[in-house]
Amino acid sequence: MPKTKPALKQQWWKEAVVYQIYPRSFQDSNNDGQGDIQGIISRLDYIKNLGVDVIWLNPVYKSPNEDGGYDVSDYYDIMEDFGTMADFDELLAGIHSRGMKLIMDVVLNHTSAAHPWFVESRKSKNNKYRDYYIWAPPDNGKEPNNWLSYFGGPAWELDPQTGEYYLHIYARRQPDVNWDNKNLRQDFYKMMNWWMDKGIDGFRVDAINSISKKPGLPSAPEKDKYNLDVIYSDGPRLHEFLKEMRAETYGKRDMFAVGETPGATPETTLQYAAPESNEFDMVFHFDILKIDFGTKGRFDRREWTWAELKSILNTWQTELYGKTWYAMCLGNHDFARMVSRFGNDKEYHDQSAKLLATMLLTHYGTPYIFQGDELGMTNMQYKSMKEVQDIDSVNSFTYFAKDGGTEAEFIKKVNTQGRDHARTPMQWDSTANGGFSKGKPWMDVNPNFKRINVAAAEKQPNSILHFYRQLIAMRKKHPMFIYGDYQQLHSETQLYVYKRTLGKDTSIVVLNPSNNPYTATIPELELTNLDLLMGNYSSINTKQLEPWEARVYRLP
Ligand code: GLC
Repeated sequence: MPKTKPALKQQWWKEAVVYQIYPRSFQDSNNDGQGDIQGIISRLDYIKNLGVDVIWLNPVYKSPNEDGGYDVSDYYDIMEDFGTMADFDELLAGIHSRGMKLIMDVVLNHTSAAHPWFVESRKSKNNKYRDYYIWAPPDNGKEPNNWLSYFGGPAWELDPQTGEYYLHIYARRQPDVNWDNKNLRQDFYKMMNWWMDKGIDGFRVDAINSISKKPGLPSAPEKDKYNLDVIYSDGPRLHEFLKEMRAETYGKRDMFAVGETPGATPETTLQYAAPESNEFDMVFHFDILKIDFGTKGRFDRREWTWAELKSILNTWQTELYGKTWYAMCLGNHDFARMVSRFGNDKEYHDQSAKLLATMLLTHYGTPYIFQGDELGMTNMQYKSMKEVQDIDSVNSFTYFAKDGGTEAEFIKKVNTQGRDHARTPMQWDSTANGGFSKGKPWMDVNPNFKRINVAAAEKQPNSILHFYRQLIAMRKKHPMFIYGDYQQLHSETQLYVYKRTLGKDTSIVVLNPSNNPYTATIPELELTNLDLLMGNYSSINTKQLEPWEARVYRLP
C-alpha cells in the first residue's frame, strides 16, 4: 500500500464544510438594527441543519467599526453592538454542544487607530510603543513613498503630533503594525493563545501575507503602483513570521488556520500551506474572487469569461492536489453576491445558484459558504451614494470624484463591485425587514426578501437551500469529493466537466454555465448505468443540457 501523502492525510478540517457569518447582518436579537451574538445563538439549529461543521465568524472584537470590525481596538473584548464576552462564551458552548466548531477571524496586519498601542505610539518618537507601527518622516514635505491604500488614496497619513507619517494599507484609521518588532509579535501570540484557551477551534487570519514590509519602504515603479497585492505581499521575513506564529499558537493544538493571502499564486501557496512548511493549513487565493478586477483594482471592472474561470479552477486544482490543502470559495463579505457575479440572477436565478453550489461543493478543498448564498441572495441596486456604507466604496468614490468622476458613474461600479451587496441583512422570512430585526436595520434589506428567504425555502422541496443540504450530505457520503483526484475533461466546450477519483470510486460533474442549452455529444454521458447523484433539473434529457444545468454522476 502506498503511504498517503501528508497533504491527503485524513483530518477533520479537510472533511469540514464551513459557514461564514457576518455578525452585523445575520440576526438582531435586541432590535437595535444590528445583528448580534444572541441573534446567532438563536439560529444555531438552522446552521447545524445545513449539515455544516465549522462556523467562521467575522470579527466581533471591540472596535470603532470603521471597517466592519477589521479595525480592532481591544482584542480581548467584544464589540458592544454584538453583546458581551458572556454572550460569546454561550455561543461557543452552543456551537460545541451541537457538534460544530468555531474559527475566529484575527486581524494582525493592522489595528484600529483607537487601539491603546497606537494611542501611545503616536505620542512621541521615543514612546515604548512607537515601534509597534510603521512611521516615516516626510519626503520633501510629501508622503514617504508612492504606496496606495486598498481603499483609495495614499497609504500614508501625516500625524501632526510628531510630524511623521504612519502607514495604513487599508483605511486611514487602520495603521499597519510593525511585525519586525518582537514584542508586538509576542503580544499577538499571547492574545491568540488566550482565545485558544477559551476553546476555539482555529483562526481565519486576515490580510496576513502583507505583514513583512519591504525593507527601506521603496516606492513602487510608477507603472506597477496599482498592483497592491504584489507591492505588499511576500516581504523577506514573511515565512519566518508565519512559522513562528504557528509554533507559538495554533500549531500546538488540533486546530486549523486559514490565511487570507491576496495575490497568492499556486507557487506561493505551496510555501504558505504545504504541510512541511508549518505555516497555514490552507489559504484563500483571489484569482476567482478578483476575476473582474482591472489594473486599478475593484472599481476598475474588466470583463471576464467562463473559459478563464474554468482555467483558473483547473490550474489551482491540479497544481495543489496532493501537495497542499485548498480553500474553495466563490464569495465572502468582501465581494458582490456570487449568483449575481457568476450566475444569472434573473431568468436563471434558481438554476445558476444551484450550479454554483454544485461547483463549490464538488471540488478539491474545504468549501466555504457565505451566509445567504444558500438562499441565492442577490446584489442590491443602489441609486445614490447615500445608500452606500462600505468604507472601500465611500473612500474610493471620494478619489474618483476628485479626478472628475460623477456619482452616477460610480454607482454603476458599486452595483457590480461593491462590498455592501454581501452585507445586506440575512433574509429569514417575509415579515418586516426579512425577519432580521424589528428595529431599523443598519443597512437596507434587499427588497426581494419576500421571495428569497429561509422560511419560503424551507417549505419548497426544490429550493436552493434544500439543494445545498443535499450537496453537503452527498459530499460527506462520498470521500471522493473530499480526497479524490481532480481532472478536467473537454476544456474547450461551453461546459465545465470534471472528474473526481478516489480508488475505484469516480464521479463526473457536468456543468453548463451558460444561458444557452448544449446539444453536442458528451462521450462520458453515453456510458450506460451512470448513477445520477444530483442534478438541478427535475427531468433529465440525455441528449441535451439545459441552461445552467448541473449534474453529478457516479460511475458504475
Ligand atoms: C480583509 C477583510 C476585509 C478588510 C480588510 C482589512 O481583506 O476581509 O473585510 O476590509 O482585510 O482588514
